[in-house]
Amino acid sequence: MTKHSHQDDAADPGVPGTAARMWDEKYSSRPRMWSGQPNPQLIAEAAHLPPGEALDLGCGEGADAIWLAARGWAVTALDVSAVALERAAEHARERGQDANIEWVQRDLATWVPDRLFDLVTAQFLHSTQMPWQQALQLAAAAVRTGGTLLIVGHHPDGLPPWGEHHDHAPEKFFTAEDLARELRIEEPQWRAEVLDSRHRSVVGPEGEAVSLTDAVLRATRLAAQ
Ligand SMILES: C[S@@+](CC[C@H](N)C(=O)[O-])C[C@H]1O[C@@H](n2cnc3c(N)ncnc32)[C@H](O)[C@@H]1O
Repeated sequence: MTKHSHQDDAADPGVPGTAARMWDEKYSSRPRMWSGQPNPQLIAEAAHLPPGEALDLGCGEGADAIWLAARGWAVTALDVSAVALERAAEHARERGQDANIEWVQRDLATWVPDRLFDLVTAQFLHSTQMPWQQALQLAAAAVRTGGTLLIVGHHPDGLPPWGEHHDHAPEKFFTAEDLARELRIEEPQWRAEVLDSRHRSVVGPEGEAVSLTDAVLRATRLAAQ
C-alpha cells in the first residue's frame, strides 16, 4: 500500500506554497515531464551499494525511487509537487514497487530530516527557490554514519539547451568541486569517493542529439557532524 504524508503549507516561511504551486503548474503542463528511466549517474554510483534505507530528495515522477525499490531499498521519496508524486505513485503501482516506497510531499524550505538514511540521493534538484547550498546541506545532514551521499546536477558548462535552464542565474548550478567545498565534504566527517564532470548524450525535445554534462559527487559519511 502506498503511503503519503502531506505538507503543511501554513508552516512555510515567506510566501506559503510558492514552490509547490510552481512545480505543480510545471508538471500539470504535460502528461509526463521526465523519461521514466532512472538517472544514469544513480545507476553508475548506487548499483554496487547493499540495499538499506534510501532518501530520494526531489524525486519528481519517481523513476529513481522505483529503481531503488526494485533493488531492495526501502525508499522515502520526497518532492514538493503533489502532481509529480501522484504520477510517481501510479508508476510504482504499475511496476509492483509501491510497497517499499513512502511518498512524502514537503517543501525543502521548511523540511528538516528527522531520521537518517544509508543513501541520500538528490538528482537535478535545481530551481528549488532556495539556494542549492541550503537544499543540499539537508541532503548531507540526512546521511547516517557509514552511509552514502549522492548528488548529481547539471554542470554549469553543460546545461540542456532547452527549457528554462538558461534563464536561471549561473549560481543555480554547481560543479562537483563547488559541492564538496560548500557542503564541507572533507575528512574527518566525509570521504569523497567521486568528484566528477561527466558528458552524456541525450535526445532533445525535437529529436536532436544533445551533449550534457553532469556534476557528480558521491561521498561516504565517516562520522557525525
Ligand atoms: C529537475 S526535477 C528532477 C526530478 C528527478 N530527481 C529526476 O531527476 O527526474 C527537480 C525536482 O525537485 C522538486 N523540487 C523543487 N524545489 C523543491 C523544494 N523546495 N522542495 C522539494 N522538492 C522540490 C521539483 O518538484 C522537481 O520534481
